Amino acid sequence: MNKDIKASLDSVAERLLYGVMSHSEMVQYYSFLSLPHYANEHGHHYQEESETYHKYVRFLIGKYNYVYRQGAISAPAKVPASWNGAEIFNVSDGDRKKYVAYGLKQWLDWEEVTLDVFQEAANTLYMHGELFAFKMISRMIESVESEIDDIKQYITRRSALINSNEVLEEDKYEEPVKKEEQIAPVTPETINVVQ
Ligand SMILES: [Fe+2]
Repeated sequence: MNKDIKASLDSVAERLLYGVMSHSEMVQYYSFLSLPHYANEHGHHYQEESETYHKYVRFLIGKYNYVYRQGAISAPAKVPASWNGAEIFNVSDGDRKKYVAYGLKQWLDWEEVTLDVFQEAANTLYMHGELFAFKMISRMIESVESEIDDIKQYITRRSALINSNEVLEEDKYEEPVKKEEQIAPVTPETINVVQ
């Protein structure tokens, strides 16, 4: 395979995979802030983009007989290191607001770079006459564009309320379940079920 074609195909596979991991990190980020709307939204993208990734690597095998090797990669860190060991119940409303804004900014930056990576790959593939790959990546570009529109809408809605006490539906804090309630207490009876 021509090395430019391979580099383009690889760049898309890598970005897709990093994107999936990035959304997974954001699920944790918003769960820690007890903001289920955003956590679910990222969970939804995690699933949808995982599917796209798998379709894409299967396409590479089917069309190019090429198995994409992901090599050693680590998840893009989205959750601040300072949260390690911190208490979910101690996040103040003010901090939560700041972190939502920061999370949206990180998400937007991420998808804008993704768009660049996909557009560059699509152009190169088009120039080399790789029209199937071009079409497939063009569809990914459309979906990133619509994701970017959604993020911008979140940002716009929030900035419209910057000086008001009104809270957007998606910004609503949901009291997390206390740890003790999540796990039933372990008693000698529950341990010795099987005698
Ligand atoms: Fe995404």
